[in-house]
Amino acid sequence: MSEIESLQKDVPSFDPPEEFVAGSAVSGRAAYDELCQRAAADPEGFWAWQAERLHWFRKWDKVLKWTPPFAQWFVGGQTNVAYNCLDRHLTTSRKDKAAIIWEGEPGDQRVYTYAMLHLEVCRFANGLKKLGIGRGDRVGLYMPMVPEAAIAMLACARIGATHSVVFGGFSADALRERMNDAKAKAIITADGGYRKGKPFPLKAQVDASLEGSTTVESVIVLRRTNEAVDMVAGRDHDWDDLVAGVSDYCPAEPLDSEHPLFILYTSGSTGKPKGVLHTTGGYLTQASMTCRWVFDLKDTDTYWCTADVGWVTGHSYVVFGPLAVGATTVMYEGVPNYPDAGRFWDIVDRHRVTIFYTAPTAIRAFMKWGDEWPAKHKLDSLRLLGTVGEPINPEAWLWYHRMIGHERCPIVDTWWQTETGGIMISPLPGAVATKPGSATLPLPGIDAAVVDRDGNEVGADEGGLLVIRKPWPGMLRTLWGDDERYRSTYWSDIENTYFAGDGARRDADGYFWIMGRVDDVVNVSGHRLGTAEVESALVSHPAVVEAAVIGRPDDLTGQALVAFVTLGPGFESGPEFGQELCAHVTKEIGAIAKPAEIRFTDALPKTRSGKIMRRLLREIATSRTVKGDTTTLEDQAALDSLAKQYDDG
Ligand code: PRX
Repeated sequence: MSEIESLQKDVPSFDPPEEFVAGSAVSGRAAYDELCQRAAADPEGFWAWQAERLHWFRKWDKVLKWTPPFAQWFVGGQTNVAYNCLDRHLTTSRKDKAAIIWEGEPGDQRVYTYAMLHLEVCRFANGLKKLGIGRGDRVGLYMPMVPEAAIAMLACARIGATHSVVFGGFSADALRERMNDAKAKAIITADGGYRKGKPFPLKAQVDASLEGSTTVESVIVLRRTNEAVDMVAGRDHDWDDLVAGVSDYCPAEPLDSEHPLFILYTSGSTGKPKGVLHTTGGYLTQASMTCRWVFDLKDTDTYWCTADVGWVTGHSYVVFGPLAVGATTVMYEGVPNYPDAGRFWDIVDRHRVTIFYTAPTAIRAFMKWGDEWPAKHKLDSLRLLGTVGEPINPEAWLWYHRMIGHERCPIVDTWWQTETGGIMISPLPGAVATKPGSATLPLPGIDAAVVDRDGNEVGADEGGLLVIRKPWPGMLRTLWGDDERYRSTYWSDIENTYFAGDGARRDADGYFWIMGRVDDVVNVSGHRLGTAEVESALVSHPAVVEAAVIGRPDDLTGQALVAFVTLGPGFESGPEFGQELCAHVTKEIGAIAKPAEIRFTDALPKTRSGKIMRRLLREIATSRTVKGDTTTLEDQAALDSLAKQYDDG
C-alpha cells in the first residue's frame, strides 16, 4: 500500500489562550519547538532530564539499551511507582491534599488525601503479603470504579507484584483467558458495582472463570453492593478481614526500572488477546511528563478523566500519572446518564472540576442527548478539555468547545495507544494552536511520522502509515510471554520502526490527522479512502449523531462505501433522507466518497470502551451474518437489529 487519499477540507484553527501561554509548563510555540529540537539532538539526555523528576532509590547506569525491537530504559536504576505516587508527597504540603475524589453511581462520595491513600495502600499491600504475594507475582484485578481499584493497583506496585486489570464488563470467559495467560496467583474483585442504577455482579463471574484454574490461589473480595456472594473457604478473603490487624506501614520495594508494572490485555481483530507489558521507570516518566505538559496539571486543579481503570487511560491518566505529579484526581463509578444525562456536568459543577478528559464516543452521546443538559449547568470551573480513543470529528470537537468549554477552554486531542503507555501526539495547551479534528503535533522526544510501506515519509496531505521511529520510555516492552508476536505485530512492517495500525496524514503545517485503523481503509475505484473522513462528513449534517462507514465488495468499483447512521431526536430516517445525506457527503468531500448505501440504526455495535466495531459491520454488509469474535462487544442488541434489517431487506 502506498497512500490513503485524504479528502478533508481545511478547518479553523484556535490559538492557545493567553492565560495558558503565560501560565503553562511549556509556554508558547517557540518553547515547544525548542524542546523538540533539544530532544531530537539528544534523545537520551532529554528523557533522562524528565526521569530525574521521579524519585530513584538508585540512579540508572545507562539511559537506553536498544536492541531492536527490545528497549530497556534507565538501566540499573531502581525506583517504585507507588513511592512516587504517594510517599514523595507526604513530606510536602500535598500530604493533606485530596488525592482521589470519588463518587459512586448511587451518589455516595469519598475523599482520600495523599496521607490517607498512603495508609490504605500500605495496609492492603501488607494484606497481599500475608497471602504470600510479592515481587514478580501476577495479580488480576476485576473491579468496579471504586477507590479500592486504585489502592489495589498501587499496593501491587508497592510490593513488586505485576497487576493485570480486566474491565469489569468483560465476561467470565474473557477473564479466564486473560488470567490463565498471565498465570495470575490472585484475583482482587468486589461483590459487584453499580451501573445504570443497578448493582452488577463481579464475584460470580470470578467464580465461573476459576473453574479449572491451576494458578489462582487467592481471591480478595471487596464489599461494595453487599449482595450475597459465595465465598470458597481457604481461597476467598474478605478485603476488610484481610487488612484487619495489619501494620499501617509497608515499605515500597526498590524495583528495577524494567520491573514489570502491569500487563493490560488488548484485543486485536483476530487471535487471542495481546498481553501488553509495561514496566516501571520509563512508563512513569512518560505518564508524569504528559500530565504536566498536556494537561498542564497544577496544584490548584481538580482533574477528571472519565476512563475506567480497565483501560490504559485509566492506568496512565486516572491513577499513575496524576498521582505521580501530586494532582487531585476524580473517579466516578457509573454511566454518564444516570440518573439523567446531566450527571457528568453535575459532577463537574459540584466538585469544581478544572480539567476534563473523555472520549469522542461520550461526546457524541452528549450531542445526541441534547444541549439542554450541559446548558443547565454552569461548567465555569473548567479550564481545559481533552479527548482520546478515536478520531474526533470536527463537528463533535466544535460542539465540545462550544457547549462544554464555552469557547474558553483549549481542547487537547491526544493520540496514543495501550501499547504506547502514554500520550504521543497532542497539542500542548499553552504552546500549540489547535485545529478541530487534529491531534496536532508529536510531543518533544516522540519521533512520529507518516510513511509509505517502504518507510519513506509521504508528502503533505498524503495519507500513509503512522509510525514511531525512535524508542520512547513508555513503550510496551513485549507481549507477555510472546516476544515473537510482539516483533511481528508491531515491528515487522517497516524495519526498526513501530507501526500499530493507524493511518494518518500531515497537513502543510505538519499537523497529524489520524484517519483510523488502516484495516478500515476502503478502496473505491482505486481510491483508498480513510473511513474517518467520510464519517466526519456525515456527522457534520445537523441530523446525524454518529456514523460508521465500511467497505463491502462491489463488482464495479472494487469496494463500495456503506454508511451506518444514527440520527438525532426528531429526525425521520428513510430513502429520501439517505439521498440527502449522500448529497451532503458529496458537497463536503466529493462524489468519490458518496456512500453507495445508507443504513439507519438506533445504535452502532461498539467495544466496551466505546470504539465502533467496523469489522462486525463489514461482516453484516458483506455476508449478512456475523461469525467473527464478539466477546468485546458492548451491546449485542445493536448488532442483532442491524442483522435483522438486512434480513428484512
Ligand atoms: O486508532 C487509534 C485510536 O485508538 C487506538 C488505541 O486504542 P487503545 O489501545 O484502546 O487506547 C485508547 C486510549 C489511548 C489508536 O490506535 N485513537 C486513540 N486516540 C486517538 C485515536 N484516534 C484518533 N485520535 C485520537 N486522539
